[in-house]
Amino acid sequence: MTTETLAAGAVPAGESGAGRTHWWRDAVIYQVYIRSFADSDGDGVGDLPGIRSRLPYLAGLGVDALWITPFYLSPMADFGYDVADYRAVDPVFGTLDDFRDLLTDAHARGLRVIVDLVPNHTSDLHAWFVEALAAPEGSAARDRYIFRDGRGSRGELPPNDWESVFGGPAWTRTVDADGRPGQWYLHLFAPEQPDLNWELEEVRAEFLDVLRFWLDLGVDGFRIDVAHGMVKAPGLPDVGRADHVELIGNAVLPFFDQDGVHEIYRAWRVLLDSYPGERIGVAEAWAPTPERLANYVRPDELHQAFNFDFLAQPFQAGALRAAIDHSLATAGSVGAPSTWVLSNHDTKRHVTRYGGGAVGRARARAAALLMLALPGSAYVYQGEELGLPEVLDIPVEFLVDPQGIQSGDPAKGRDGCRVPLPWSGTVPPYGFGPAGSTASWLPAPASWSSLTIEAESGDPGSMLELYRSALALRRALPSLGAQTADSALMWLELPGAPEAVLAFRRGDRFVCMVNTGSEAVTLPAPGALLLASAAVPVLADSITLPADSAAWWRV
Ligand code: BGC
Ligand code: MG
Repeated sequence: MTTETLAAGAVPAGESGAGRTHWWRDAVIYQVYIRSFADSDGDGVGDLPGIRSRLPYLAGLGVDALWITPFYLSPMADFGYDVADYRAVDPVFGTLDDFRDLLTDAHARGLRVIVDLVPNHTSDLHAWFVEALAAPEGSAARDRYIFRDGRGSRGELPPNDWESVFGGPAWTRTVDADGRPGQWYLHLFAPEQPDLNWELEEVRAEFLDVLRFWLDLGVDGFRIDVAHGMVKAPGLPDVGRADHVELIGNAVLPFFDQDGVHEIYRAWRVLLDSYPGERIGVAEAWAPTPERLANYVRPDELHQAFNFDFLAQPFQAGALRAAIDHSLATAGSVGAPSTWVLSNHDTKRHVTRYGGGAVGRARARAAALLMLALPGSAYVYQGEELGLPEVLDIPVEFLVDPQGIQSGDPAKGRDGCRVPLPWSGTVPPYGFGPAGSTASWLPAPASWSSLTIEAESGDPGSMLELYRSALALRRALPSLGAQTADSALMWLELPGAPEAVLAFRRGDRFVCMVNTGSEAVTLPAPGALLLASAAVPVLADSITLPADSAAWWRV
């Protein structure tokens, strides 16, 4: 945190120009996957009043902002990422007034709120798509989406070879009013998520208006879903390869990361900047390289882009250091802060990615201290502060994620990182709902009773207390947080340290050390121990950093 950034208390209103706080440059942003955060009404699905009732927990954790995943009217084919009305709240999540109340209370606690915008596609039940299906070929209503004639003598083949991220062709054939097969429409995700035609001025104007709607309500920013997808290569050329398209990948494709997409963000930035209080845009963009990713955060575009390159690294010093250097250099080349992400609702939780069990937990603890010591903004996915693992054994009859179902491979499903958050008690769903409620849209494992917020609170060895301590120190130490000349990251080469050790300074007074190896390492004492992910023996002038651990020092 810089000193100008709000430490606690109300969000300052109306700052602009010289009064900018750049709060987002070093913010810790907590991702609320709304279905699974807290359920206020006992229907087994998390909701807006549930989040509101748990704001004291989030404020106490010490984060700066929340990003809430989509809560708009939706038939839930992709659990809210299929939006039927961008200006309405789905009844399962509450009402618009519930959102207003949540926003007011969050702001009163000094927490900013970022909402999720899904501009690449709508739901198939959005009024525009319903109208398009009923309208004739070549009509203005169809032109809002991407309808094309099929290939083959009778149009029986999809218009091109694009595959859906969720598996299978990215095209679905429609049926005309007379019952005969008609044109095809494009959906990069599920068939219930038709892609919009962003070449059309009307689509651009509509989304500017949707942004205004939420900005007028007072939101602090937007996480932009599939921010690299809206513009497609002219003529929709074939990919020309058979390998499957992954959302989480870095292939060069005719439907992702096209140069034309940046014009959209320039227009959005003008709108964001016209509001007081530094409203921000965060790109969920999967770009082929960190250089291409940096294009999304040029000064006249979005503020941040998720850094998935960091998430993709194994727990290995060399790989992490290379990703950190590359990210800082590329974001820095356009004057943007880096972001750091370890988990989200689309990827396997990092305790499990890092090996699971005791090793996975130890590494996740170390990774938390690494991430929170890096310059820039960090994202915490709900439950990572508890050390939740991926749930790998959800009974198949409970699996609901379209990515797992449509791909025909349950291992590709994302249900395992979306299991409701365990709050308290000893039996599932661990206080997720109101007292006495046993409803939970995905089942929580019987083994989570030691991983609840209640069980971990006050336990000095818990992941939760590690996050609380780290976040409190991050606020208190001027050298952490904002990427300024004084607090830039400087790698330290420690004499005698093996390659598995990472050490860096932030400013003059702070050092972070990480041992990614499987052997403890004895090193010269860098200063006074502030916080460690494992027990670190400190002797007069040497310290021992255990395997898979990290420590923060005051020099
Ligand atoms: C979201 C996913 C969603 C997809 C389609 C993503 O990037 O994070 O959860 O399935 O966009 O909207
Ligand atoms: Mg509910």
